[in-house]
Amino acid sequence: MQVLTNNQSLQDALNTFRNEGKTIGFVPTMGALHEGHLTLIVEALQENDIVVCSIFVNPTQFNDPEDLKKYPRPIERDMQMLKSVGCQILFLPEVSEIYPSDLPEVNFDLYGLDLPMEGAKRPGHFKGVVQVVHRLLEIVKPDSLYMGQKDFQQYSIIALMLRQMKSKIRLVRVPIVREDDGLAMSSRNVRLSPEGRAKAPIIHKVLKEVEYYVESQPFPDSKKAKELALELLKKYGIDNIDYFEIVDGHTLQVLQSFDASNFAVACTVVVIDGVRLLDNIILFERN
Ligand code: PAJ
Repeated sequence: MQVLTNNQSLQDALNTFRNEGKTIGFVPTMGALHEGHLTLIVEALQENDIVVCSIFVNPTQFNDPEDLKKYPRPIERDMQMLKSVGCQILFLPEVSEIYPSDLPEVNFDLYGLDLPMEGAKRPGHFKGVVQVVHRLLEIVKPDSLYMGQKDFQQYSIIALMLRQMKSKIRLVRVPIVREDDGLAMSSRNVRLSPEGRAKAPIIHKVLKEVEYYVESQPFPDSKKAKELALELLKKYGIDNIDYFEIVDGHTLQVLQSFDASNFAVACTVVVIDGVRLLDNIILFERN
């Protein structure tokens, strides 16, 4: 695996591959890798000749400077993991490579996609995500970009950004990778106490119950589905619910009725042991 830290050396390496007619898949990350991240890499490897993974802890998407400081950076371990799955290039830039002082600001109309859910809890977060992904794409110029469904709102916003750019980059949404007991993989899971860890799989269980309700009822009601979820979470001992929303997968607006949408997603964050656990389920996606 080549480890490249500056834009020019990365672009030189990629140009050589491009001239040989090779396709490039790109997986942006902030490191502290786990099986979820590796699944994105593996999928990218199946569909491209060359896979670039970036590890860059993007300062502009953190609204709490303490969070940025505390973000884990186990770089040696990350490199081993990337090598183990056959990732060919790791891009490991310094802040000055990504944000030179003369970098023009990017401004996309996010049509309010950045406002609900994570956007309401973390003001400015998605502006930072858009800024860094835009910049990374400008440097890497991949054929395909791989993002996890785990961060559904982030995925939707990047999809909108690519449409606005009239970009030819193919965006691939990779399903959520879970532990055996259903808990969505996240670098935050290690911060849970044994009791909290034992409780956490309830989130996925409740999302599956909501999916079952929607699939089994002849006329499911979106408000009832949300009520069911809140009731079940409380019943199973999860009291700290940041949000639970059933939204349209394109607009991220709360669904007043399932009939009003062809793409319904239930998104939630619950807090266990002070750790925000993010999860979602696609209830249906019709063409
Ligand atoms: P990070 O949190 O490191 O996540 C990198 C990618 O891995 C994202 O696309 C995320 O959705 C995906 N991912 C994380 N856990 C997953 C899981 N359990 N199953 C499937 N995919 C999973 O998201 C970011 O970094 C940053 O915001 C970034 C896009 C890199 C911009 O800085």
